[in-house]
Amino acid sequence: MTEQSATLILFGATGDLAHRMLFPSLYNLLGDGLLPDDFLIVASGRTALDDAGFCKDVDAALRKFLPADRYDADLAEKLCGMVIYSPVEAGNADQFRALAERVSDRMDKGISVYLSTPPALFAPTAQGLADAGLIGPKTRIAMEKPIGKDLASSKQVNDAIGALFDEESIFRVDHYLGKETVQNLLALRFGNMLFEPLWNAGAIDHVQITVGETVGLEGRVSYYDGVGALRDMVQNHMLQILSIIAMEPPARFDSTAVRDEKVKVLRSLRPMDGDSAKTQSVRGQYTPGAVAGQIVTGYVDELGKPSDTETFVALKAYIDNWRWTGVPFYLRTGKRMPARQSEIMIQFKPVAHSIFGKRGPNGVGRTGLEPNTLIIRLQPEENIRLLIMAKEPGLDGVKLREVGLDVSLDHEFGGQRRRIAYERLLLDLLEGDPTLFVRRDEVEAQWIWIDSIIDGWKEAGVKVASYASGNWGPSSAIALIERDGASWHD
Ligand code: BG6
Repeated sequence: MTEQSATLILFGATGDLAHRMLFPSLYNLLGDGLLPDDFLIVASGRTALDDAGFCKDVDAALRKFLPADRYDADLAEKLCGMVIYSPVEAGNADQFRALAERVSDRMDKGISVYLSTPPALFAPTAQGLADAGLIGPKTRIAMEKPIGKDLASSKQVNDAIGALFDEESIFRVDHYLGKETVQNLLALRFGNMLFEPLWNAGAIDHVQITVGETVGLEGRVSYYDGVGALRDMVQNHMLQILSIIAMEPPARFDSTAVRDEKVKVLRSLRPMDGDSAKTQSVRGQYTPGAVAGQIVTGYVDELGKPSDTETFVALKAYIDNWRWTGVPFYLRTGKRMPARQSEIMIQFKPVAHSIFGKRGPNGVGRTGLEPNTLIIRLQPEENIRLLIMAKEPGLDGVKLREVGLDVSLDHEFGGQRRRIAYERLLLDLLEGDPTLFVRRDEVEAQWIWIDSIIDGWKEAGVKVASYASGNWGPSSAIALIERDGASWHD
């Protein structure tokens, strides 16, 4: 770990992410004494504001987005005292110079830059910083997703930023990696002897990864349409979860070892073509319906025009390597699902031989013997549930029943505040630890696979199927897994 940056320059500081996540995270870090005393936040956006005007916005955002019992006016004021505002339009050299004047004497104490802007502004903003003399050996840069919309455009962004910063100074954000629950997957797999010997094609029948959201477009019309669920959620968050679930044990918990193993998984994903895209993927789009008792409109009504963008996607993926050969990974994610629920389900194979007799027709068992299931719930609550077989009490022979070994991590670690994912990521950026950020080769391997699916959709003419809001996607998503004799875990 390197010296902690004493300055954070935040581009996109008047935007939604900054209000909702970044300032509340900085507030929490400050409250926990994790920021240096002389810390300076240079907030930058296109809006013309002065320091005091911006400070009012920060205070309003903290009141709105922090839980009511966490807002403390003194701490908010202390945070505001660390913030200055410098309006900048990409391409406006005078404004970059004005910004530089406010921070250039702090370069030797390290500067972290955070780009929370539309991706089209990443390269011009980095160039503006370079021209203003703000890129030095102690400057690092973080970028929000999306990095491009396909492999070619992601390479352009990576080349442009890579021309100004070394790879070790580039921090590509995937906020799922900042979630405690996602980091906990590493603890579960590599901190226990129990699972690893069984974590392979010999013992595992299939894996399911679900990230369900109840929200719709949330006013992000201009970003989302034409992007869709595959690029918005699968390319980044879901492939990160998949690579952590599927990777080989890294030799150490450090940025090179962990990311080396993740990228090997991403490179082993079997590309799709027209035929496989037709049979191994489903695209869906929500229509009006009810979510958690609330009537909601459909996607095209929110959008105000017809669209073929998918708000739901289900995939059957294969990882072509020694450990996972033949094991399907079913992924699904969508908006306007019945519940905000993210989980991983590991379905083990049946026991090699049943000493309790055979199961009857249609899977109805005399003995009730079922294969084991491990369910790792990431959101909204964090728990781990292992379904094992037990004997029902009684004298009429041996009847088995599935029972759950349950651990609620929320309960186990009760009393600990649930941190915003960005707290971890901002702290790691300031401290220069890239382990939980995405390396260039990972992003590119992700796009290679995603591009193969999009090309397959085009080749096979795969259109969106509609689903009423409040359902787990179109019926074809259920058929996708049921054809294989399995079913989604709900
Ligand atoms: C973002 C996507 O990256 O992740 C959004 O752009 C999505 O569409 C969000 O809603 C989900 O994040 P979380 O942390 O709420 O699961």
